[in-house]
Amino acid sequence: MTSSGKNPKENKGMNRRQFLSLAWWAAGGLILAESTGGLVASLWPKLKEGSFGTKVKVASVEEVLAMPVGTITSFPEQRFFLSRVDSGFLALYRRCTHLGCVLPWRADDPTEDDLSETGRFNCPCHGGIFDRYGVVQSGPPPRPMDIFPISVVDGEVIVDTGTILTRTTFEESQVTEI
Ligand code: FES
Repeated sequence: MTSSGKNPKENKGMNRRQFLSLAWWAAGGLILAESTGGLVASLWPKLKEGSFGTKVKVASVEEVLAMPVGTITSFPEQRFFLSRVDSGFLALYRRCTHLGCVLPWRADDPTEDDLSETGRFNCPCHGGIFDRYGVVQSGPPPRPMDIFPISVVDGEVIVDTGTILTRTTFEESQVTEI
């Protein structure tokens, strides 16, 4: 017996039980954390490098600058068009701003701008028409095509398809000079 009136063996037994209980809770917590982490990882798959939603390497600065004014280059897997306008480049998201249809580039259609003799975006769903700046020329789309930021890193032109920029009108500041 101790001065507190408890048998020391009893105290030792209680501590062991508490320790075992704590160990079980810790083990259970680890298993739960691991299985939850696995579930979250499987629901949120990693984006493949260069795919839509990531920073996409387009080409070298020299190759991009060699594109003549008026050129539209399609990146279908990355869901954008690189449009060469007179003062630089726009990376246009190919999703129509009306109801989201995929916008095709029609190189042989009449032009809607003064950069080339032919070519425009022509939405197959409800006839929305956009020029090389992604600006609506006719039809129901309420605003210009969305754009992605363009940058230059180590001599490569990069389009950040993880950052969608919406706009209500065309402004010269949207064009990236390279
Ligand atoms: S979805 Fe393009 S015009 Fe309607």
